[in-house]
Amino acid sequence: NKKRLKGELSKDEIDYVISSFMGGEIKDYQMSALLMAITINGMSFDETLYLTDSMLRSGKILDLSSINGIVVDKHSTGGIGDKVTLILAPLLASLNIKVLKMSGRGLGYTGGTIDKLESIEGFNVNLKETDFINQVNEINLAISSAFEIDQADKKIYALRDATSTVSSIPLIASSIMSKKLASNADIIVIDVKVGNGALLENKNDALKLAQYLVDIGKYYNKKVYCVFTNMSSPLGMSVGNKLEVIESINCLKGENIKDLMEVVYSIASLIVSKVKNISLVEAFNLCYQNIENKKAYFKFLEFVKRQGGKIESLKCNAKVMKVESLYSGYITKIDALKIGKLSYLLGAGRKNKEDSIDYDVGIVLLKKIGDYVNQNDILGNIYYNDTVISPKEFLSCFEIEDKKVKDEIILGLKM
Ligand code: URA
Repeated sequence: NKKRLKGELSKDEIDYVISSFMGGEIKDYQMSALLMAITINGMSFDETLYLTDSMLRSGKILDLSSINGIVVDKHSTGGIGDKVTLILAPLLASLNIKVLKMSGRGLGYTGGTIDKLESIEGFNVNLKETDFINQVNEINLAISSAFEIDQADKKIYALRDATSTVSSIPLIASSIMSKKLASNADIIVIDVKVGNGALLENKNDALKLAQYLVDIGKYYNKKVYCVFTNMSSPLGMSVGNKLEVIESINCLKGENIKDLMEVVYSIASLIVSKVKNISLVEAFNLCYQNIENKKAYFKFLEFVKRQGGKIESLKCNAKVMKVESLYSGYITKIDALKIGKLSYLLGAGRKNKEDSIDYDVGIVLLKKIGDYVNQNDILGNIYYNDTVISPKEFLSCFEIEDKKVKDEIILGLKM
């Protein structure tokens, strides 16, 4: 009621809500009402900080004291075709930077790193805590699904997903930071996606979120850096679990998918410059070198093998439908949200947490914004199994015009 009347909640009140919700005295419908009141009336920075703190204390906090060196964690607010972690993490690890990441499964249109990794036969996403930490010490990199940290986020996120309260900035900030603080890395980089395929559609909201993230980090003595990246069109060429792993491997082998590698290099250079205390240019050169000499690729192979994955059996088992352009001209738009929805319809995404997904299906774009296409050129390939979408639906994602437009991918930085 206090939040409905636009009041400011105290630390005790927020602690009470979270502990009672976790204990079962506050029911889902009451929590949902509060989440909606927060979504409509907002939260001050202090309230967001208190909420983060309560959520953080609802689960385990990792003890990383046995890891030698600076530990880095990266998070994305979620987007279509976002496979940055799969390239960035081994790249950093190949430069002797420790990367520890707990990831989630995808829900709705956006994919999750855990699903992508699980599309590799045998890959174990459920590491034990001791193995997780040992692996980071031994090969600089481990990615696991989140164990026992931040129990409140799991419960609250499920309600948010079902009550249209996911896009609230204080709720996003507390959800991300409570998880990241529980993972306990020294440097936290957050890729804040902006655009119609992201939770936040405009840069002002993204800036507001980033300010909360950075300020919460300061309170806990953690370095938080935010990179704003464009999510109006899908990132890279492919959308779908296995297809994205294959694209990531190709990039690790040196293929330059421009928008995707720009995001990878921007984030990687920033982290490397901070960890090694060198300039951004020097850091970029180190990153570039380790893609060129394939050290990042070999690190990826080592990481997959270490977690039980059989990379040699990675192959997309789906039927392929090619879709041709009806017009000639420059591509000026590829609607990220629509592509995400189509990929979801094909079976690449899940509606509910328990749903199973088809790892093999998805979409591969053959053209990107700024490319010229002739009538009958192939715009993309649809990989399908049980459900197929119509070419018309796929074509409706594109806008083709006479004039070329520039597509900016990196929209800014906040630290
Ligand atoms: N990512 C998260 O971890 N939480 C949110 O609420 C939104 C994006």
